[in-house]
Amino acid sequence: MNLIDAENLTKKFGEFTAVDDLTLHVEEGEVFGFLGPNGAGKTTTVRMLAGLISKTSGKTQIGGYDIGNSADMQKIRRLIGLLPENVGLYENLSAYQNLDYYGRFYKIGEEGRQERIELFP
Ligand SMILES: Nc1ncnc2c1ncn2[C@@H]1O[C@H](COP(=O)(O)OP(=O)(O)OP(=O)(O)O)[C@@H](O)[C@H]1O
Ligand SMILES: [Mg+2]
Repeated sequence: MNLIDAENLTKKFGEFTAVDDLTLHVEEGEVFGFLGPNGAGKTTTVRMLAGLISKTSGKTQIGGYDIGNSADMQKIRRLIGLLPENVGLYENLSAYQNLDYYGRFYKIGEEGRQERIELFP
């Protein structure tokens, strides 16, 4: 089964086309390298897949859920993990506090958070 199915995915910022008709398929368990020159649209694509920005056109499913549908996007967000180029960590918090803070967004209970954070000493 394909985990990512992008068909003619396109993103325009005003008149400028940043991602132009991208079609790609990534299978479950596949390690996929997404390469291209600076400005090719890699980050813009990943931001669309993660639901951080909307697509302009095209159809894309992740795990069978549609990135254009907000209810589906909530489910996709539970499936994916994203390490962006600029990591949004708070420097005035400790490593533990950062993990604890993000764990709350994933609705992990206090005990669960503590247990999982301690797995990474
Ligand atoms: N929010 C935005 N508004 C307008 N143009 C944008 C925006 N974000 C990206 N772009 C433009 O879209 C194009 C693709 O940018 P993107 O950051 O996706 O490229 P990239 O492949 O990730 O490049 P790099 O290898 O440098 O990280 C670039 O020309 C960029 O200037
Ligand atoms: Mg980039």
